Amino acid sequence: MALVPMGPMLRHARANGYGIAAYNMIDYNSAASIVAGASELNAPIIVQVSVKTVKYWGAKPVGSWVRMLAEDATVPVALHLDHCTDLEVIKRCIDAGWTSVMFDGSSLPFEENLAKSGEAYRIATSAGVGLEAEIGAIGGVEDDKVVNDDESRLADFDECIAFCKEMPDLAVFAPAIGTAHGFYKGEAKIAYDLLDRITQSIDIPIALHGGTGLSTDQFHRCIASGCAKVNISTGHKRLFIDGFCDLREEKPKLGEPLPFIIAQRDAMKADVMAMIRTFGSDGRAEEAADAA
Ligand code: 13P
Repeated sequence: MALVPMGPMLRHARANGYGIAAYNMIDYNSAASIVAGASELNAPIIVQVSVKTVKYWGAKPVGSWVRMLAEDATVPVALHLDHCTDLEVIKRCIDAGWTSVMFDGSSLPFEENLAKSGEAYRIATSAGVGLEAEIGAIGGVEDDKVVNDDESRLADFDECIAFCKEMPDLAVFAPAIGTAHGFYKGEAKIAYDLLDRITQSIDIPIALHGGTGLSTDQFHRCIASGCAKVNISTGHKRLFIDGFCDLREEKPKLGEPLPFIIAQRDAMKADVMAMIRTFGSDGRAEEAADAA
């Protein structure tokens, strides 16, 4: 089917207590592994892309790979731009037919974040594209952005309310709730009280960033509270490399490239399927597609 916008299916996920996996693709093989994992489990899926990756491949090639994969699939697939601070890149992705984008103004003072996110909101919604926006500062490393422990900051509840009031049709809202990008050093300290307060007052679906390394209980707790989009990047990127390198170690004399690509794809796909089962989105493709 054609690429779908993510907002309506995320609202369905939130209303029905499951999470939709949002995986950061790297290349065509990685995007194919994500869509194949979702297809095998009949699950809705979000293929998202870090800005560095878009800048490397270009918004058009990525757009056509994922559109082609979506058209051949029977599950709904959204194509989303992750953590972007540059409105020009956002416009390029919209022009190339992407179905949602994230503006990340979290490093700006609140008023400035509100103003710039509002501008991105107007650009995206007038093009029929969903917007994700962030408040607070999610720690860790995502793409070229490094937020050290002392710089990470939980979202302020009153600011969350004011922010979402200005942008009631956000596809998904990303408040910092204590999770972090990258591999966790210890256990993530999630501010469930804050998350619950936010979800009791705001009906926009919530994005759970920093999915790599969270426990099944943590995923379930956050999804039950209203996190409908669950982001996985670091773990997927690691499997992209390990899938290749493990086979190299196992068969150092193998000179044919295809088995490496297949090993890489299988490693990524197995993880996508495990996460979909954990988030409870398996078997939800038709309902999510109807909502979209
Ligand atoms: P991880 O890299 O920790 O999986 O986080 C992904 C993410 O939130 C992307 O925005």
